Amino acid sequence: MLDRPLADLILRDARLMTQEPGVGVIERGWIAARHGRIVGIGEGDPRARRSARAVERRLRGRVVLPGFVDPHTHLLYAGRRYEEFVERRAGTSYMEILTRGGGIHRTVADTRAASDAQLSALLRDRVSRAAAQGTTTIEIKSGYGLVVEDELRQLRIINRLRTASRIDIVPTYLALHALPLNADRVEFVAAAARAVGLVGREKLAERVDAFVDEAVFSAADARAVFRAARRVRLGVVLHADQFTDAGGAVLAARSGAMSADHLAAANDRGLAAMARAGTIAVLLPGSALVVGYAPPDAKRFRKAGVRMALATDQNPGTSPLEGMPIAIALGVNLCGMTPDEALTAATRNAAAAVGRERVAGSLRTGKRADLVVLDTDDERDLAYRVGARLIREVYAAGRRLEA
Ligand code: NIG
Ligand code: FE
Repeated sequence: MLDRPLADLILRDARLMTQEPGVGVIERGWIAARHGRIVGIGEGDPRARRSARAVERRLRGRVVLPGFVDPHTHLLYAGRRYEEFVERRAGTSYMEILTRGGGIHRTVADTRAASDAQLSALLRDRVSRAAAQGTTTIEIKSGYGLVVEDELRQLRIINRLRTASRIDIVPTYLALHALPLNADRVEFVAAAARAVGLVGREKLAERVDAFVDEAVFSAADARAVFRAARRVRLGVVLHADQFTDAGGAVLAARSGAMSADHLAAANDRGLAAMARAGTIAVLLPGSALVVGYAPPDAKRFRKAGVRMALATDQNPGTSPLEGMPIAIALGVNLCGMTPDEALTAATRNAAAAVGRERVAGSLRTGKRADLVVLDTDDERDLAYRVGARLIREVYAAGRRLEA
């Protein structure tokens, strides 16, 4: 019976933030799932039949959201960068530390020194901490290997966890992150472009990323790895205009990137190009906060008509931020998003940024039953009660994750 589907999970008496255009918020709503998929959604009494061992939860007006999608993380690393953090807060710049061989290079050394088993354990722990904060889809980049062999090792570790994980992992090959200290730039970029071919053929990643900034890699360098990505049908994504305006936004738009990320220093021409191309802007307020530069301004993206997403950018250098609730709070309080914009940025738009718009990011029949129950009846608490523990229950593909 189409209008009374069989369900093994029913959440009812909830304030459903569907993130579906034309549906919006459903008060006293219910949502039903079976075998990990949403099978029904509506208002009032659930029109779904319960299977033998169904779980039914009355939520007394609590908010239910689509599981968060974190579309930009660097979760695979060893070591911490406390000294750099303290030095930066005292005034030394990020680029100064990077160019003298600290920063990313420090994490590369620590990560190289760790065993596969150690890295896997660190990654597993970080993914489950993210999930406990409501993230049910997470992008994870390599990028702390730099040389091809180490980058491939990191992608293999990410893929092993992906197979075992209850939440959806999107692996990205960060092909150009930093130039190893004694490396030749031309040779390094050529080797990275060759590695993209291998990564594509072995399906070790879905996308290729590059860090384009004044003192790091150029647009031409990024174009070389992007060309290789197109040949093996990998998506592309860019660390664009984080510290300086290096033309990253225009490059991302012209390259058909799935998203351009950071953009704190992007120019208006770049934003206009992104709007025309439909490139999503992934704002990363955590790194603006922790590094201390002017955050990307939501007003500019709104005015240009660019879709905004939010991510943690979780990494040991610029953004040791854990979980999407704090990214949402910063999106509102630091970047000037409205609470509604920030929620869409953390769900629907973030899903689109990682190519998951068909399966995640909104509450709709047929999508994966990735659900977050908040311990409040007002979703604005995510932005307003900064740092409050608001994540009450998390369901990944219809199964509750233990807290
Ligand atoms: O997104 N800016 C480049 N990549 C990271 C930081 C990496 C690091 O410092 O370890 C970022 O901010
Ligand atoms: Fe990043």
